[in-house]
Amino acid sequence: MSKKILGKTAIITGATSGIGKATALRFADEGADLVLTGRRSSLGSAVEAECRQKGVRCVFVETDHTKPEECQRVVDIALKEFNRIDILFNNAGIVTKGTADTTPEEVWMDTLNINVTAVWRMCKLVIPQMKKQGKGVIVNNGSDWSVVAGKNAFPYIMSKGAVGMMTKAMALDYAREGIRVNAVCPGDTFVDRWIEKGYFEGSDPVTMEEAIKESSEYIPMGRFGKPEEIANAVLFLASDESTFVTGHLLLVDGGNTAQ
Ligand SMILES: NC(=O)c1ccc[n+]([C@@H]2O[C@H](COP(=O)([O-])OP(=O)(O)OC[C@H]3O[C@@H](n4cnc5c(N)ncnc54)[C@H](OP(=O)(O)O)[C@@H]3O)[C@@H](O)[C@H]2O)c1
Repeated sequence: MSKKILGKTAIITGATSGIGKATALRFADEGADLVLTGRRSSLGSAVEAECRQKGVRCVFVETDHTKPEECQRVVDIALKEFNRIDILFNNAGIVTKGTADTTPEEVWMDTLNINVTAVWRMCKLVIPQMKKQGKGVIVNNGSDWSVVAGKNAFPYIMSKGAVGMMTKAMALDYAREGIRVNAVCPGDTFVDRWIEKGYFEGSDPVTMEEAIKESSEYIPMGRFGKPEEIANAVLFLASDESTFVTGHLLLVDGGNTAQ
């Protein structure tokens, strides 16, 4: 079977769990060398080992993407290890709730710092290398809330809306330099965090049964997405199967935003 991103170098931010981890494993299956990031180093090292077992080179770098110097370190390590950066998957993010008047300043700033500023920062750091190569692909992780709004998730929705516009603006700025910029926009996707911490940061954990019952009520396909299904879409956007696609927000949401 031909490998879709064989020999490419990919940075995946927030690869310690959920969609980032699933994408790391999928990219490893498809032959990419990987630089993975996140703050939880024991989980990150385990993902690193799993990817290496698939026969690719892989480095986990413990990183807090709200810290500029730690982001710079990720890019430095990628270039030192692999000498090029073909793909950046900007996936690290947090989910926060609240309305405009109930959101504390701190939650607003924390949400924008990781979901928006860190996404821009990583792009800013890899684009010079991609320009040098004359080629590169950036995939940002947006949300179905990059294109529609919802209730009681104001800071998160603001941040993901910004990711959508950042994606389009950068796509235009770099289209003639061989750099494609797209976003994957997942609908609700069942990840371990939901069981551990609840759907939002600081909310009550949900059981699998509760979550599945809820999903069948509002998602047209009657179920949540799986991280692997989002990883498939990221692979499409990151590979040469999408060479004429840029500035696109690819909804992967079981039909949720078609309603
Ligand atoms: N699951 C969904 O329904 C859904 C829907 C739409 C969009 N998304 C987006 O998908 C992305 C991944 O989320 P997920 O659902 O897969 O949940 P997750 O398992 O909680 O993954 C979040 C990832 O981001 C990393 N992260 C968070 N803050 C970070 C920081 N300051 N520095 C470095 N890494 C950081 C986490 O790593 P550490 O904790 O180890 O730092 C983790 O690897 C997010 O951008 C989220 O908004 C998810």
